[in-house]
Amino acid sequence: MSKVAVVFWSGTGNTAQMAQAVVEGATVAGAEAVLINASQFTADDMDNYDAVAFGCPAMGAEVLEESEFQPMFDSVESKLSGKKTGLFGSYGWGDGEWMRQWEDQVRGDGAQLVADPVTAHEAPDDTALSDCRALGRSLA
Ligand SMILES: Cc1cc2nc3c(=O)[nH]c(=O)nc-3n(C[C@H](O)[C@H](O)[C@H](O)COP(=O)(O)O)c2cc1C
Repeated sequence: MSKVAVVFWSGTGNTAQMAQAVVEGATVAGAEAVLINASQFTADDMDNYDAVAFGCPAMGAEVLEESEFQPMFDSVESKLSGKKTGLFGSYGWGDGEWMRQWEDQVRGDGAQLVADPVTAHEAPDDTALSDCRALGRSLA
């Protein structure tokens, strides 16, 4: 059984809803999937999972959340090469620039993106949640 970690940060719950849907998709597809808060995940944990999904909303000015998510992500980046990876997150007034930059970064790290990143405008609608479940299935 493959092990999938869904590591996320969420301030107002939108990205948290997406994370839950990724876990559902991976679980339905037969994986052992766990939901992990960004502050609880370390570089050492990367070795325990076959695939990892990262979720973070657009914060600051089109950047990842800077106090918990970004430091965690900096620490795991060296372990992304060849790893089955997925990205997701919610945004507000922007046009998704934060996700385009994040995707470029993880591709540069050599991550194996299993699907296109999933974005939602504020609260995820049915399409976004369905895309999150599909991401989970692809990671499983
Ligand atoms: C401090 C702060 C900064 C934000 N910066 C951006 C931004 O640069 N671009 C954008 O599209 N949305 C921005 N947003 C909106 C959030 O990305 C949006 O509300 C999102 O749904 C929050 O997700 P969450 O519920 O998972 O925290 C910002 C929100 C906050 C509170």
